[in-house]
Amino acid sequence: MSMLKETLYKKIEAHRPRTTRLLKEHSGTKVMDINIAQVIGGARGIKCLVTDISYLDPFEGIRFRGKTIPETFAALPKVPGSDYPYVEGFWYFLLTGDVPTKQQTLEVVDDFKTRRQIPHYVFDVLRAMPRDTHPMTLFSAAILSMQRESIFVKRYNEGMSKMDYWDPMYEDCTNLLAKLPSIGAYIYRMKYKADTHIAPNPDLDWGGNFAHQMGIGKPYDDVARMYFILHSDHESGNVSAHTTHLVASALSDCYYALSAGINGLAGPLHGLANQEVLRWTQNFMAQLGGEEFTKETVEKALWDTLKSGQVIPGYGHAVLRKTDPRYMAQREFCLKHLPDFPLFKLISTIFEVAPDVLKEHGKAKNPWPNVDAQSGVIQWYYGLTEWDFYTVLFGIGRAIGVLTNIIWDRALGYPIERPKSVTTTMLEEVAGIGTKEPAGAAK
Ligand SMILES: CC(C)(COP(=O)(O)OP(=O)(O)OC[C@H]1O[C@@H](n2cnc3c(N)ncnc32)[C@H](O)[C@@H]1OP(=O)(O)O)[C@@H](O)C(=O)NCCC(=O)NCCS
Repeated sequence: MSMLKETLYKKIEAHRPRTTRLLKEHSGTKVMDINIAQVIGGARGIKCLVTDISYLDPFEGIRFRGKTIPETFAALPKVPGSDYPYVEGFWYFLLTGDVPTKQQTLEVVDDFKTRRQIPHYVFDVLRAMPRDTHPMTLFSAAILSMQRESIFVKRYNEGMSKMDYWDPMYEDCTNLLAKLPSIGAYIYRMKYKADTHIAPNPDLDWGGNFAHQMGIGKPYDDVARMYFILHSDHESGNVSAHTTHLVASALSDCYYALSAGINGLAGPLHGLANQEVLRWTQNFMAQLGGEEFTKETVEKALWDTLKSGQVIPGYGHAVLRKTDPRYMAQREFCLKHLPDFPLFKLISTIFEVAPDVLKEHGKAKNPWPNVDAQSGVIQWYYGLTEWDFYTVLFGIGRAIGVLTNIIWDRALGYPIERPKSVTTTMLEEVAGIGTKEPAGAAK
């Protein structure tokens, strides 16, 4: 057993009694009351998920295993000559809560390399799909196509004990995660680089090899590491994390579960917002027709978007009530590496103007930027201008967090998810406003 797997097993053994005790001795203890706005409004704020992988405070932002973003970057072992840590060390950290040593990290780097090979039929599936298929559809299909590889399914069919579920789940999730950067790079080059491909470099780490297979030089390897870590996890309630958890709760394996989560990430209110930000800025520049933008023209364009009934992409959040620290981490990178890049200047001007516009508009509960407002600029700067690929980058990163979560779901025996629905009439009764219901309406 690898050092990581053994450490994880010890953590699972130590954690299980905590969950058992809560259920045995405190099942009846109330966590919160919920109201009609939450029932109708997408379960906003209802505390009904448990995860110890990350926690999102509305004002502070994300903490991974108790650490802020700067603390996480500072704590983890770095790739020699790079400013950012090995993603493999971050995977160790998310899974166990322990900051790995350099040696422990390198063991994971080697383990990932042995699992990197992609079955040939995945390429056949990708190549059989029309070339104008959205990259997220290709990515999701590639993941789903590998479902036949699931060790969990094999062991389940052999009659495995519940207590052992986490083990094949760990194997499946690691096998899948190790392959994702190469799959992403293959999709990118098949679609946008005349179907020319670059073989993996066995000497490189997960993030470094992604940059290599994309065909983008330094410091894009560090951009990749930063980007994947920043997008990995945002507690359990966001659409991609929740979908992955929900599907896995039926004991569907990680191929089914992650593919579903990626489909959720592909929505414009979630991960696709990073592509939408670029689309918005490019349309805006096109409308200016070569004229320099000013605060006034940006403000007008933002109002035009709102007045036409659309959202300002990259702004607002269901939980956050301040500027997303993931936005700030990327902004810091831009200030260091590309302070004079015109697109960064435009994004910075939107940052100056949009919060006041949204406040005056008076709808969005959070007028501040989220992660997606800043991420496309960096990609664009390093030559990745095909913005409909951006959500795949998000998806590769998001896999780290959601796969960690479903391993722990199986370790702690979380049950199949099944919230309860009510009818509108029932809610009206609760509200004391009984109405005359149409004949045949459900009670
Ligand atoms: C992220 C998002 C989906 C959160 O949704 P939410 O939790 O329902 O947000 P709120 O409670 O603040 O929404 C209240 C109202 O403000 C609107 N609103 C929220 N963010 C807005 C934005 N960026 N631009 C315009 N209107 C916005 C909502 O559409 C909603 O309008 P409605 O009452 O007409 O339905 C939302 O802020 C949004 O659509 N942002 C733009 C897309 C984006 O950047 N997504 C990436 C998120 S990481």
